[in-house]
Amino acid sequence: MDTEIIGESDWKELQRNLEATIPVYDRINNFATLGQVKRWRSRAENLLPKEGHILEIGCGPGSFAETVKGRRLFCLDPIPEMLRIAETRVNKRRKELGYSMAEFHIGTAEKLPFEDNCFDAVCTLFSFRDWFDKRKGLSEAKRVLKPGGLIIIVDPAKINSFHGFLGLIWMKYWVGSYARLICKQKEHPWKWLTKTYVSFGTTKKYTKMLKEEGFEDVKGKIIFPGMATIWTGKVS
Ligand SMILES: C[S@@+](CC[C@H](N)C(=O)[O-])C[C@H]1O[C@@H](n2cnc3c(N)ncnc32)[C@H](O)[C@@H]1O
Repeated sequence: MDTEIIGESDWKELQRNLEATIPVYDRINNFATLGQVKRWRSRAENLLPKEGHILEIGCGPGSFAETVKGRRLFCLDPIPEMLRIAETRVNKRRKELGYSMAEFHIGTAEKLPFEDNCFDAVCTLFSFRDWFDKRKGLSEAKRVLKPGGLIIIVDPAKINSFHGFLGLIWMKYWVGSYARLICKQKEHPWKWLTKTYVSFGTTKKYTKMLKEEGFEDVKGKIIFPGMATIWTGKVS
C-alpha cells in the first residue's frame, strides 16, 4: 500500500475487515484514543456550518453522524451493513431530537453519487485513510461542494517517521492486545486498521495534497494528545 492509492484486492480485504469490526468498533476506538475520540468528533461538529447540507463520507456505523445536530445530513458508505446500522442509529436519535431524517447513500468517495455544488460542507472522520484513491476522492469532494463550502477531515496525525513508528507500536501492541481480547481471536479484524495506519502519510503530506487539489485556506492541525489531525480547506 502507498500513501495515496490502495490496490483493489487490498481495499476489498480492508472492507471485509472493516465490516467485521462493526460490533466492537466504538469500544475499541474509544480505548485506542484514550477516550479522546468523543472530543475530536465534537470539535469537527463545531466546525461545521450551523445550517445547510452536510455530507459525511465513510459514515461507518454512524458514530459521528449520530452527533451531528440539526442541518440536512447525508451519509455515504460503500458497505451496506454499515449503512443499515447507521441509518437505524442516526435517525432514531434525530427523531428524538426533532431533526430532519438523514439520508443514506451507498457509494465511494472516488465516485460520489451527487450533483455538482450541492453541499455546504463535506466531512470524513477515520475514513480518508481507507480511500483507495485519495486524490480522486478529494477532487470529488471539491466537485460536490458549493462555492465557499468546507471540507473537514479527521484521521491519524503523523509528524514524521519517528512519530509514525511510535503510533505503530501503540496500534500494534496496546490496541492490538485489547482488540484480540475483545474479539476473542488472534486474527482480529482490527489488524487492518493498523495496516492502513502504517501506509498513511504525514499530516503535512495531506495538507499539501489538499492544496494541490485546489482547496484554499488549508490547515492541518494536530490535536491533543498528538494522535489525530483535523484538516480543513475551502472551495473558492
Ligand atoms: C473506520 S469507519 C469510520 C466511521 C465513522 N466515520 C466514524 O467517525 O467513526 C471507516 C469507513 O470508511 C468507509 N470507506 C472505506 N473506503 C471508502 C471509500 N473509498 N469511500 C467512502 N468510504 C469508504 C468504510 O466502509 C468504513 O465504514
